[in-house]
Amino acid sequence: MMQCFSRSRGLLPLLLLAMSAGCGSYDSGGPAQFARTGELVALSGGDAGAQGACVTCHGVDGAGDDMAVPRLAGLDGGYLAAQLHAYADGRRQHPQMQAIAKQMTGRQRLLVAHYYAAMPYTRKAPPPAMAAPALYAQGDAGRGLPSCASCHGRQGEGVGSGNPPLAGQPAAYLADQLHRWRLSMRRSDAGNVMQQISLRLTAEEARLLAAYASSLPGDLPSREPRAASPAEHRAGPRNDASTPPPHEGE
Ligand code: HEC
Ligand code: HEC
Repeated sequence: MMQCFSRSRGLLPLLLLAMSAGCGSYDSGGPAQFARTGELVALSGGDAGAQGACVTCHGVDGAGDDMAVPRLAGLDGGYLAAQLHAYADGRRQHPQMQAIAKQMTGRQRLLVAHYYAAMPYTRKAPPPAMAAPALYAQGDAGRGLPSCASCHGRQGEGVGSGNPPLAGQPAAYLADQLHRWRLSMRRSDAGNVMQQISLRLTAEEARLLAAYASSLPGDLPSREPRAASPAEHRAGPRNDASTPPPHEGE
């Protein structure tokens, strides 16, 4: 592992930070040893090597970034493992994640999945308040569209182990996933529910739903209260970043 560390100078401070942050902080989420071995995979990339070190892209806090890299912290362990298996066998296509998942052993995928599942997640910034699109809360029976809330929760918190939270995931990432289902680049969920839903959405609806779902609070504690009114929202520091450019996602 030391070899991996010395090969990537930029990564070293990150890794050291991750190690100190990891000391004892996630052990409460499961058997301590289990969590620690998963942590080793997250820091080293396991058999995928330093290039696959999860922390480089998903962050030391597992929160992802604001664009293309999803949050892993606090997601269901079974869901995370299923995604890694799907990347490995090609049912979910993405060049970087496929290369990484293919090189990992099945056990490493499980360990790292449960490590991230036990990791606490806190939002970095208060979510911007947005008007709820009718499709999110009610769906559209005429078009065969169930409400997103029925499976992902009114607050985007996710329902059960198989329906992941959408709250706090980058809006661009969520929109991209809806696009990938339409292209059959993601086809690992039971019954292809999300592909059927995605095919019935216009590009504009998908973009709006992704932005809304991303902005939801989830059932997780955020450090600051959600903006209560549109006026407060306008004054919010994230307002500009949260407004998608007009042509995004087309
Ligand atoms: C080079 C950057 C990079 C590295 C390193 C990386 N990831 Fe990813 N990961 C991504 C991107 C980008 C996506 C979104 C891919 C897509 O659109 O399907 C992703 C998606 C995922 C997902 C799907 C999440 C969801 O909500 O469905 C999981 C799980 C995941 N990564 C786990 C890991 C683990 C575990 C590691 C370390 C072993 C890792 N990643 C390393 C960039 C990276
Ligand atoms: C019948 C249940 C169901 C409904 C209704 C539903 N979803 Fe999903 N959704 C799922 C499941 C299950 C997954 C995880 C699929 C997998 O395992 O790959 C998912 C995943 C997603 C993801 C990817 C999350 C990630 O982390 O990669 C997005 C985005 C999404 N759904 C958006 C929506 C939107 C928008 C709607 C409403 C138009 C909706 N979903 C309605 C079940 C549902």
